[in-house]
Amino acid sequence: MKLKLVLASALLAVGLSASAQTIIKFSHVVATDTPKGQASEFFAKRAAELTKGKVKVDVYPNSQLYKDKEEMEALQMGAVQMLAPSLAKFGPLGVKEFEVFDFPFIFNDTADLHKVTQGPIGASLLAKLEPKGVKGLAFWDNGFKAFSANTPLKNVADYKGKKFRIQSSKVIEEQIRSLGGIPQVMAFSEVYQALQTGVVDGTENPISNFYSQKMNEVQKHLTLTNHGYLGYAVIVNKKFWDGLPADIRGQLEQAMKEATDFANQVAQKDNDLALEGVKKAGKTTVYVPSKEERLALKNALVPTHAKMVDRVGKDLLNSIYKATDFDPSKL
Ligand code: LMR
Repeated sequence: MKLKLVLASALLAVGLSASAQTIIKFSHVVATDTPKGQASEFFAKRAAELTKGKVKVDVYPNSQLYKDKEEMEALQMGAVQMLAPSLAKFGPLGVKEFEVFDFPFIFNDTADLHKVTQGPIGASLLAKLEPKGVKGLAFWDNGFKAFSANTPLKNVADYKGKKFRIQSSKVIEEQIRSLGGIPQVMAFSEVYQALQTGVVDGTENPISNFYSQKMNEVQKHLTLTNHGYLGYAVIVNKKFWDGLPADIRGQLEQAMKEATDFANQVAQKDNDLALEGVKKAGKTTVYVPSKEERLALKNALVPTHAKMVDRVGKDLLNSIYKATDFDPSKL
């Protein structure tokens, strides 16, 4: 009788573990109709298909679960399993090197960026996360940033004395100071209101973020400066990831590979569509700087590299210069 009970409970346990579903909570701060929003949904779909339902990815967009800084802590504690924070937000985790992506004008275009994110430099950056209990799986694109304010931003002097909301990056802080502006770190979910109430005068972001947060309702001027890059590292709680059965982990890696291709395909299109949306809404004047104006901005911002090199390390900065043939005078 006793043996029967033991056998029955053992069978039940096997049955349970065979049918148990692994849930991955994937938290992020942007809207669903953005490159990251779409790519996280794509990943959830492919993860379910490839694992035949053994893994369910629940995506929580728009800071529903956590704001910027809290989500990193939640990942380390295991309260969520997956995030895709912007590369500007890894300083508080103690991995300052990611701020190299914030260096103004460091990439001329997406091809330059991919030489870094899709090559050995990107892989070595992701590896720096492991001692923090975090595993880096991929880089996802968003795009190049534009500056906005309620007054026109054409010349470098136009930035002087203005308060700009920024992400939690020391490099971006210095970027704003180089223009004579005042940087103010703030969570993404608070930007719309801060712009609306005048707590800050302006901000920077790719257009997909600007438009999907309706910032165009509260910013009269948008200048397509493309002065810096904003993209993401998809990260997981390392203990959780390493504890997955190898076959499931392999299927999730495949889903992530496909989601990364998808993210990088839709990013530019999403930003183009968002720009059309801004123009159609008609509340914001979109300004394309002349070559001379953009060069003046570049000249004002490139000295940030020398000032902030210690933050990311000389070798890393030089390896990116080399990979992209960085030329401070070229546009
Ligand atoms: C921001 O805070 O402006 C961005 O990092 C938001 C995002 O995740 O794209």
